Amino acid sequence: MDFAPPRGMRDFYPEEMRVRNMIFDAWKKAARLYGFEEYDAPVVESEELLTRKSGEEIIDQIYHFTDKSNRRLALRPEMTPSLARMVISRQKMLTYPLKWFCTPQCFRYERMTKGRKREHFQWNLDIVGEESIMAEAEVLGAAITALKFMGLTARDFKVRIGSRRLLADLFQATGLAETHFLPTCLVLDKMGKITETEIKQLLSAEKLTDDEITKVLELMQIRSLSQASSLLKSTPKSIQDVQELFSIMAATGLGDFLEFDISIIRGLDYYTGIVFEAFDTDRQFRAIFGGGRYDNLLSALGGEKMTSIGLGFGDVVVRELLEAKGKINLEVTNNGVFIGYMDLAQREFAVKIAQSLRNQGLDVNLSLVPEKPKKFFSKGDKLKIRYSIYIGPDEVNSGTFTIKNMVTGTEKNYAYGQLVQGSVIDLN
Ligand code: HAM
Repeated sequence: MDFAPPRGMRDFYPEEMRVRNMIFDAWKKAARLYGFEEYDAPVVESEELLTRKSGEEIIDQIYHFTDKSNRRLALRPEMTPSLARMVISRQKMLTYPLKWFCTPQCFRYERMTKGRKREHFQWNLDIVGEESIMAEAEVLGAAITALKFMGLTARDFKVRIGSRRLLADLFQATGLAETHFLPTCLVLDKMGKITETEIKQLLSAEKLTDDEITKVLELMQIRSLSQASSLLKSTPKSIQDVQELFSIMAATGLGDFLEFDISIIRGLDYYTGIVFEAFDTDRQFRAIFGGGRYDNLLSALGGEKMTSIGLGFGDVVVRELLEAKGKINLEVTNNGVFIGYMDLAQREFAVKIAQSLRNQGLDVNLSLVPEKPKKFFSKGDKLKIRYSIYIGPDEVNSGTFTIKNMVTGTEKNYAYGQLVQGSVIDLN
């Protein structure tokens, strides 16, 4: 019988867990640097909450089930509906702007392609209740900082900035009916993922005429903000917002990471303003992260209307990119101490040394049984533990021990008595 994990789901063996923790550490450190507080919610939610405002694609991908009391439940495919639910239930009591982050595992029954699994961990950063474009700038600043912590630079990735509101203004200026707007957005989000013929077919299924389809595809050819501006009579708020974002980001010194891209639209229903996605510069991978401004989600789920902005940043694509850039080292040395002993007669001394070192805050892996030196040291090599102490009868008799640096080969001798009197071990 083959009990592999279900298709699209991952095991994390210790070496892979180290990589995952490195990614999580970068996410959490960046979130805290930018003043976000951590929260969490259940992985199982009511199906209705998760499907009300998300968009067709995610609804098709939902893992849902009925519990023993016939409740329709589902595994969360994203965190945003849970965030909205939590905010709504304390909407009057919370302090705004609220800046929250979390690192939930999300589940989507996806067609498996590069960068897509059926579960992933997704760093979420959201600011609720602030209209200023400073909110977009802070969220993007934190996400870029996390990628920098992982060792990536402006040469490795770019954040592409679009705007649904700007697109709506362009639609209006071009004479396209407003009713087409949202369905058209969801189709346009598929550009680059399916062929142009398929895009045209989908738009025509949304009842756009051939002329309208041509106009929409022409809008997708816009290459700069000034080109977009030239199609509009005045400079609307949508253009000002994008300009403001670029100027704040320039002030933070992170301006080089941003590019304007009208074709960034996002596949979820709830976005209403600036939207963005980060991609590797060689465009070999899917989006590293994506998000944007959403004005109506809270009201759509029964709360008071409150503008929000946020992003989701998965662990899968960034892991692939880090590997391609040579930033992942599975062979990391453990900086702890490995302690072994020859016979049961030396066990007590080894236990005492281990305890004293642990009391000093050092990571100690103490052998569970006596071992011959050869076996002990070869195990230490395999475990890649930097320091080792091996206790034989001589050590017990003299009340001393030697710490060996397995990487440099240097040795330092200590008296156990010194340790008991509080002498601190300096491993370097
Ligand atoms: P999303 O674009 O659906 O947005 O997902 C955000 C990120 O999660 C993607 O850019 C990708 O890194 C990762 N991701 C999504 N699906 C998968 C998958 N099947 N396998 C691996 N990684 C995946 C959202 O989910 C929004 N709720 C984000 C948001 C938060 N917007 C506002 N606040």
